[in-house]
Amino acid sequence: MIIQLLQNAEQVDLAGAELIKSTVRFKPNAVLGLATGGTPVGIYKHLVQDAKQGLIHFKQVTTFNLDEYVGLPSDHPESYRAYMEKHLFAHVDIPAEQVNIPDGMATDLQAECDRYNRLLAQVGQIDLQILGLGHNGHIGFNEPASSLTSETHIVELKEETRQANARFFASIDEVPTHALTMGVGSILKAKTILLVVKGADKADIVHRALTGPITTDCPASLLQLHPHVIVLLDAAAGRKFA
Ligand code: PGA
Repeated sequence: MIIQLLQNAEQVDLAGAELIKSTVRFKPNAVLGLATGGTPVGIYKHLVQDAKQGLIHFKQVTTFNLDEYVGLPSDHPESYRAYMEKHLFAHVDIPAEQVNIPDGMATDLQAECDRYNRLLAQVGQIDLQILGLGHNGHIGFNEPASSLTSETHIVELKEETRQANARFFASIDEVPTHALTMGVGSILKAKTILLVVKGADKADIVHRALTGPITTDCPASLLQLHPHVIVLLDAAAGRKFA
């Protein structure tokens, strides 16, 4: 595991974008695993700027998003489909058919999880999986539990996750209670994992996840088992590593 302690969030965004750019330059048909939430917004901003300057092309790239809320239509501004369109896809040359996001509006959610798993199996391996980190140690929407699910599945969101994400909604009541998420097994199958963590409020959990016991109570701790993880921390999040 490589842990890079950077000065500030801007440095983290630049380093994250650079890693994605070099992955796609080296392998133009790379499969990228993408995350949503506040953390990667700056990375996507840099990628959009770079794409506009012809420094990265997404024509042959395939993407798989980690998760999606259940019950938010794709045109709801807080759906992860809408987030991805707003922050990345609408501004780069990725063909729509190469974009994969679980459909949280599917009438049969289990069938939708099965479909997503089949697609993941077809590509074989994600080249670079981007991850944020939840305050409770979740990755994707894999919440702390006594056991974790390997493949894409339906998950009930923890109260603390709904609270954390309420900042994007008018009120907590509007935050969906369930989501579809790639499983920890699917995440750990990626060739390289890029974990991005910012802010003082994540300093304890990122330290616990990367140096504490490997436990399903902290799903991100399972990243310690992966052979190729790169962690980008700003100074506030990396306080305990300094
Ligand atoms: P955030 O979410 O980037 O909005 O902090 C991270 C996560 O919950 O995985």
